[in-house]
Amino acid sequence: MPFLGYNVLLAPMAGVTDVAMRTLCREQGADMCFTEMVSAKGLSFANDKTRHLLDLAPGEDKVAVQLFGHEPAVMASQAAWIEEQMGESLAYLDINMGCPARKIVSKGDGSALMKDPELATAIVSAVKGAVSHPVTAKFRRGWGPDKETAPEFARRMEQAGADGVTVHGRFSLQMYHGFADWGCIERVKAAVSVPVCGNGDVCSGQDAVAMRERTGCDGVMIARAAEGNPWVFAQAKAALAGASQPEPPTAAQRLAMAQRHARLLSQREGRNIVRMRKHAMWYVAGLPGAAAARRQINECESLEDFERVLGELGHITSYN
Ligand SMILES: Cc1cc2nc3c(=O)[nH]c(=O)nc-3n(C[C@H](O)[C@H](O)[C@H](O)COP(=O)(O)O)c2cc1C
Repeated sequence: MPFLGYNVLLAPMAGVTDVAMRTLCREQGADMCFTEMVSAKGLSFANDKTRHLLDLAPGEDKVAVQLFGHEPAVMASQAAWIEEQMGESLAYLDINMGCPARKIVSKGDGSALMKDPELATAIVSAVKGAVSHPVTAKFRRGWGPDKETAPEFARRMEQAGADGVTVHGRFSLQMYHGFADWGCIERVKAAVSVPVCGNGDVCSGQDAVAMRERTGCDGVMIARAAEGNPWVFAQAKAALAGASQPEPPTAAQRLAMAQRHARLLSQREGRNIVRMRKHAMWYVAGLPGAAAARRQINECESLEDFERVLGELGHITSYN
């Protein structure tokens, strides 16, 4: 059974899964995309920058929203506010219990909640009591090192009312090092009866199939492999459906997608177009002339700058 109706999902990524990124990933076949994580506290202060994270892309019918925080009452009231504002365009709400970043865990948010299952339980049950949309929790293998708590943690989230869980098979202390342990996803799947979404190190269509076969997970969530590569969703969708793999994108297609990404970002983000620098680096990685283009990309400050640098790279790659 798909995870809440979705087979392949774009993971929440702060600073990455904005309107532009989601537009391109949905076009390539992602069944559901996440917003960047949204601070419950920031929303409660009516912070415009935080609210802006909830904007939909043109033509985006539904989006999944991830909240972070650690105060059950604040999380519940802001979840209710999101539901009221977004109505049918909200697919479901997820609670971030996996972010390992120091500035997040030092406040008791993100994966710090894995160290306090009582509080994590209280958050899920408070949010669940405040909204009618499905509520899920996204967490890791455990805090670490080497102490896998995810199966028991998942059971507690289920008992608290979670409609599903997403597991990234790394410990918090691992950050993004080493490998994601898919055995952990399998053990979580065996521990709960709510749907389980698997996450970690899915980079291709074959990986998506391997994760589903190995773990029995209901959905596959992809994060880093989608950076500069929205085609990974077309590949995952085809592979999971048993269809033949689409051809990998050519250099020209990658550069054209980068140009589109820049235009979409400039329409939405205005001065924040510099966010395109990292996307451009991802799109051009490995292309002829990319190493030399890196410095120029890092100096881009406007849509025109990106169009020029990507256009010049297009001339170089067409001669190779
Ligand atoms: C730049 C970046 C930002 C991320 N931001 C979030 C976030 O806001 N919320 C979250 O739950 N996970 C976040 N993650 C973790 C991913 O959602 C995902 O769990 C992790 O990258 C493992 O999946 P992958 O191997 O497919 O990349 C982030 C990861 C990256 C690389």
